[in-house]
Amino acid sequence: MAEKAMNKAGAPETNGVPRHIAIILDGNGRWAKKRGLPRTAGHAVGSETFRKIATYCKDIGVEYLTVYAFSTENWNRPGDEVSAIMKLLGKYLHEAIDTMERDHIRMKVLGDVEGLPPQLQALVAKTDEISRRYEGFQANICLNYGGRDEIVRAARRYAADYAAGKADTLTEADFGNYLYSAGIPDPDLLIRPGGEQRISNFLLWQCAYAEFYFTDVLWPDFTPEELDKAIAEFNRRDRRYGKVKNP
Ligand code: FPP
Repeated sequence: MAEKAMNKAGAPETNGVPRHIAIILDGNGRWAKKRGLPRTAGHAVGSETFRKIATYCKDIGVEYLTVYAFSTENWNRPGDEVSAIMKLLGKYLHEAIDTMERDHIRMKVLGDVEGLPPQLQALVAKTDEISRRYEGFQANICLNYGGRDEIVRAARRYAADYAAGKADTLTEADFGNYLYSAGIPDPDLLIRPGGEQRISNFLLWQCAYAEFYFTDVLWPDFTPEELDKAIAEFNRRDRRYGKVKNP
């Protein structure tokens, strides 16, 4: 397993540990199908996998973990699957509220929270409130999230501020402050388990310079050892940010 390392310097990575890891949770349905179980059983195991991987990220010194749990397009799934996912998320946030204070884990939901069921909105407000009291590892869960939707909303909010005389310049950094991810550094490493190799409308703005890692492992089977493999691959990459290394 990766050595324990703390990254407080603000560098993209310290001792080979990326500062911010993003993961597209994929493969829950297929995991369940392979076992003759309902898809919702895959989501239940997938949420436990998230708990384990978040703890592992915190232990090895990752500062931010952002996962794509429910997209703006996922509402089109069968109604019983959507309600099962919402129920699971509610259960997860409820349990997190009890443990995040003890473990000093900050949790933030990125996405259109107002479109979530009211009980879930209340839990999100509570996790936000607890998170404001701490520093340290932060888990971000993207819910009712779409990358294009995020950018369009940010543009609308900027336009409103501009019209009201509250904004005049617009740099990339200024625009970033209108996104759900305001204040969070961009992901260094984006992992997609489940065998697909696409971004699926996830963190389109923020992943401009992320390293992508794809694996066939289905999300419920994802382990800390799999994360170590992704980090090892990340450390073999040559991040040039569009520049030439030895001109
Ligand atoms: C993708 O697998 C998974 C989802 C759309 C739902 C993810 C939700 C959870 C894991 C529940 C709770 C999450 C957290 C963070 C507590 P899929 O259904 O698209 O799988 P498939 O591609 O095999 O069909």
